[in-house]
Amino acid sequence: MKSSIAQQAPLIQNIQARNVLSLNGRWNYIVDPYENGYYDYRHEAFDATTSGTGGFYDDKKPKDKGELIEYDFDYSPTLNVPGDWNSQVEKLEMYEGTVWYRRKFNAAVKPGKRYILYFAAVNYEAHVYLNGKKLGMHKGGFNSFQFEVTGKLKAGENFIVVKADNTRHQDEIPTINTDWWNYGGITRDVFIAEVPDTYIADYKVQLAKNDAAHIEGYVQLNGNDLSQDVTLNIPEAGIKTTVKTDATGRAVINIPVRKISYWSPENPKLYSVNVAAGTDNVSDKIGFRTIQVKGTDIMLNGKSVFLRGISIHDENPLLKGRNRSTGDLKMLLTWAKEMNCNYVRLAHYQHNEEMLRLADEMGLMVWAEVPVYWTISWENPATYQNAENQLTGLITRDINRASIIVWSIGNETPVSEPRLKFMGNLASKARSLDNTRLVAAALEVHRKGNEAIVDDPLGEKLDLVSFNEYAGWYWGGDPSGITKYNFNIKYNKPVVITEFGGDALSGYHADANTRWSEEYQEALYKNQIAMLSKITALRGMTPWILADFRSPRRQHPVYQTFWNRKGLISETGKKKQAFFVLKSFYDELEKKYK
Ligand code: GCU
Repeated sequence: MKSSIAQQAPLIQNIQARNVLSLNGRWNYIVDPYENGYYDYRHEAFDATTSGTGGFYDDKKPKDKGELIEYDFDYSPTLNVPGDWNSQVEKLEMYEGTVWYRRKFNAAVKPGKRYILYFAAVNYEAHVYLNGKKLGMHKGGFNSFQFEVTGKLKAGENFIVVKADNTRHQDEIPTINTDWWNYGGITRDVFIAEVPDTYIADYKVQLAKNDAAHIEGYVQLNGNDLSQDVTLNIPEAGIKTTVKTDATGRAVINIPVRKISYWSPENPKLYSVNVAAGTDNVSDKIGFRTIQVKGTDIMLNGKSVFLRGISIHDENPLLKGRNRSTGDLKMLLTWAKEMNCNYVRLAHYQHNEEMLRLADEMGLMVWAEVPVYWTISWENPATYQNAENQLTGLITRDINRASIIVWSIGNETPVSEPRLKFMGNLASKARSLDNTRLVAAALEVHRKGNEAIVDDPLGEKLDLVSFNEYAGWYWGGDPSGITKYNFNIKYNKPVVITEFGGDALSGYHADANTRWSEEYQEALYKNQIAMLSKITALRGMTPWILADFRSPRRQHPVYQTFWNRKGLISETGKKKQAFFVLKSFYDELEKKYK
């Protein structure tokens, strides 16, 4: 088979639906704080030398009793993949640095087939080697990435070695300072997909922008035989059409829709969709809905909605670690449903693809975000490219998820000209990748007397006025006094509060003015709701946050012990009093927007 594949294959769409070999399970690991397995004592990278050998990725064994090899994966302990190392090994709870992973596996290699090694996420910088050969490097702890291993994968035994390094740096995305635990490792699934020589690399099948009567999208082939017939089949909707790809393997789809049941939280209807081309075909479950802004209203399928939401981190508090299974993800979304949410903010980075597919099934609209968080190196072109790559990964992976209604380009980024340029470019990039969803960011407010002012110039470029405000916790005195505040909002757009909240230690009870008590948090929610309900353009909120989560910035020895306690559910899964305040507010809103 000629391997003259010129163009870089896009991230394979819907890999789980392909013919895959899962590499999840136990991987041997070596902790390497000095990157001894990567650099020689002169700090020259082994994989940059002419031989390209010498590092731990050789997975070498002494050939005789005299040979000096100072590592051995076979006798090294194991970590579970997917899973962060911090929650699996006590002494690695706060470890930041390099850990080497090695996995041996058997593969069957068939002629005429191609093989793609796919990582759903590795935090933060991953160097990947197959059978001792370097495949490449990837940066970004929450995005999926892949390497073509056709011709490199052997029939029989193979070994993969991954150098995972979660060291934080100023110029990266996220930058050096965050309010979440820097879980390291191979935190999501690892697969090898077997695909035909020419395969369906990517596709988008969604309703056209603001148009409930047309499905619009594309199919992108990758391989040697790029000009082919592609058939799109949606049997239940009576849709079957064939289009021809052009010389670059791309076909545009634009088909009228006669009778379709539109996706919404009340009716999370998903259709079986099949895309076939040559010897390849892939099936998916896709919902169809339109989302747009009209004045200060958010219109879902042409009807004004209120986004009854909650913010969520990709963490299972019961595990004190990154979510590892569908069960973990379902637990979090079920808690949100118990609060009568129809919407969630997946903060502050790309969550597991499974989370979006569950939101599709369970009927939860989604705000998806890239970790452009706090003070980024706005004028560093490499930092911008990194942010844009992560945004592209966010949008291309989940382009077919009906649940996602908002792409967020960042959180609490400080107002400045270089930042406005940076964020403005990200907003245009998001729109160029997908013009059917809303684009937003979590802005900040500033105050003058009893006025909370939202006039961030970035708001001009966004579809929503969405901001974080911590009245009653970081400012504004205790909760009983915050209703005096009025919001002065520069933009005539729907207002969505991306964060408000306060910490409460579950089970700690006192009067409503005593911080850390459930009563204080309860009063804060009651008064926040009263204060925010004065905003006539209020069309949604995602209070901070569904459940207590780990943070290295929360060191109070009694109330925090490295937990951010703003959850409405404790780290043991116990609902706090404020949970029920928000639920009853959402029950009212559900009736109001029926
Ligand atoms: C910020 C930030 C969150 C953080 C929260 C808090 O607004 O966006 O990531 O956890 O406030 O202070 O609890």
